Amino acid sequence: MLRRLAVQLSSSHQRRLFNASFPQFLAPRLSPSFSSTSTSSSSSSSSSSSQSPQKHSHEPSSDSELVKHLKGIVKFRGGPITVAEYMEEVLTNPKAGFYINRDVFGAEGDFITSPEVSQMFGEMVGVWAMCLWEQMGRPSRVNLVELGPGRGTLMADLLCGVSKFKNFTESLHIHLVECSPTLQKLQRSNLKCVDEGSSGGDGDTRTISKLVGTPVSWHVALEEVPSGVPTIIVAHEFYDALPVHQFQRATRGWFEKMIDVAENSSFQFVLSPKSTPATLFLMKRCKWASPEELNKLEQIEVCPKAMELTEAIATRLSGDGGGALIIDYGLDGVVSDSLQAIRKHKFVHILDNPGTADLSAYVDFASIRHSAEEASENVSVHGPITQSQFLGSLGINFRVEALLQNCTDEQAESLRTGYWRLVGDGEAPFWEGPDEQAPLGMGTRYLVMAIVNKGQGIPIPFQ
Ligand SMILES: C[S@@+](CC[C@H](N)C(=O)[O-])C[C@H]1O[C@@H](n2cnc3c(N)ncnc32)[C@H](O)[C@@H]1O
Repeated sequence: MLRRLAVQLSSSHQRRLFNASFPQFLAPRLSPSFSSTSTSSSSSSSSSSSQSPQKHSHEPSSDSELVKHLKGIVKFRGGPITVAEYMEEVLTNPKAGFYINRDVFGAEGDFITSPEVSQMFGEMVGVWAMCLWEQMGRPSRVNLVELGPGRGTLMADLLCGVSKFKNFTESLHIHLVECSPTLQKLQRSNLKCVDEGSSGGDGDTRTISKLVGTPVSWHVALEEVPSGVPTIIVAHEFYDALPVHQFQRATRGWFEKMIDVAENSSFQFVLSPKSTPATLFLMKRCKWASPEELNKLEQIEVCPKAMELTEAIATRLSGDGGGALIIDYGLDGVVSDSLQAIRKHKFVHILDNPGTADLSAYVDFASIRHSAEEASENVSVHGPITQSQFLGSLGINFRVEALLQNCTDEQAESLRTGYWRLVGDGEAPFWEGPDEQAPLGMGTRYLVMAIVNKGQGIPIPFQ
């Protein structure tokens, strides 16, 4: 059935694959040499990989609004802020956060993600969602929720891919959880949305995606999405944008890494001299780990927002039925020191000109599993498996073959490159251009996990 679905995906959906050939030099969001214990930026520019917090030397000539705001918080508080507070402000401050006012994706942006690499990514997620819908007993109404949809590319490709399967598309109400008004507008445009009068004749309008005629709504948080309806949730590169707290081992235990304003007015890392509120989450996380795992670590990252989000997802799925798919880079275990900053496809210092670079951290999939299982007995957690296993099992090989049957040489090149980047590991073996421009595979560094209501059985391809 999966093979059939992968080949049958709407044949007219060949728009982006054949139009977009991304320059090879573009790095995915995760650097190839990045590991959980050291960032690939040079040690002099990555304070997060050093054992003792250091002062950051770069001082902008004039402070941006966001920098003034951050310094204002430190001043008002009379002390340093946590790395998590810093990360949250930098990414999602309603006035000047990194995501808020611009399109950060693609060649002109700061990084590239799998849905932007090839339409096949969104199509395969569509195959997964439709199979889950079958397992759910083909409900006539389903909330299809995407957390952090970026440009809306994944959802557009998903919908175009399943457009032939009317029973499925007619059941859908799309809910996009997005904090950025700029990206909301882009999503609206990419999903070809129009406003229509509601069928109830009450004067209200509703927004419809012309791609398949489904209603679309936007929310700034999952809690706003109406419950009481079977739900399918997709979170691709959403968890890695959630703010992390960083702790460092010292002789007297674990201490939280904080961000302060130095005498020369630049930001610097300091250690909190005493226990902080986030220590509760550190203790919770450590309880889920073995002493052997913890003994190896000098630093630990914890993400309370990821724990809370997972609890909310599990509780919702437990009551309403359905499942969630989480795809991100990360580890199936405690994350040590992974926070990184990327601007214009290059690593930069985390404290450098905040608001102009993306901040992201490895996702702790083990913590997601424990959070879901503790939140509800009615859900089961599957994976993580690698992105390569996930896409391969869903039939991406058949899909690429089907697309290759009807394309030019240039399009075939673009297809092969996109395919490699989604499922490959390391540099593409077929690449004949300059080494530094070789396409890099994300197939093993990105992991996939599913949380489902137990009533749905085991989701594909986790059986
Ligand atoms: C790294 S991007 C991933 C985009 C997309 N999923 C992709 O793979 O191309 C993170 C997305 O989540 C959104 N986002 C980040 N933090 C958020 C938050 N706290 N609430 C809602 N949306 C958020 C960003 O605006 C952006 O759309």
